[in-house]
Amino acid sequence: MKRFLTWRDDWYLGIEGIDSQHLRLVELVNQIAGLLEADNPDAVGGATPMQLIQQLQVETRLHFRSEEAFMRECGYPDYVSHHREHAMLQAELKELIRDIEEGKRKFDIDTLTSLKHWLINHVIDSDLDIARHLHKHKLAPAEDQL
Ligand SMILES: [Fe+2]
Repeated sequence: MKRFLTWRDDWYLGIEGIDSQHLRLVELVNQIAGLLEADNPDAVGGATPMQLIQQLQVETRLHFRSEEAFMRECGYPDYVSHHREHAMLQAELKELIRDIEEGKRKFDIDTLTSLKHWLINHVIDSDLDIARHLHKHKLAPAEDQL
């Protein structure tokens, strides 16, 4: 079966801690897609799509925090705008979850598709820029920074 969100090798930042967190977020999105695409989503594997999106929210917050710490440590020049983007994404995710809980929005594959797009766009547009900064200044990510 085709995966809902397929990771591409050119999305790797070359920063081990961040890359593994990105892969984990992708895995969670795919797990949610698997449940939403199943005939009876609530009956699969124990966790519900809602529990998994809440898990995604928690892990996204932790991921953003460690990415922000990394950016500060390597003197990344666009920290402020990147941080603002993280805050916006977190607010959007929070609002999305609230809308689903309040029945204002249906939790279906279309909803997840918009979430998938912001995740990918953020990685491609903003996160990869951190890697470009490291490369430009020949800074090697230290193992203990994450
Ligand atoms: Fe980021």
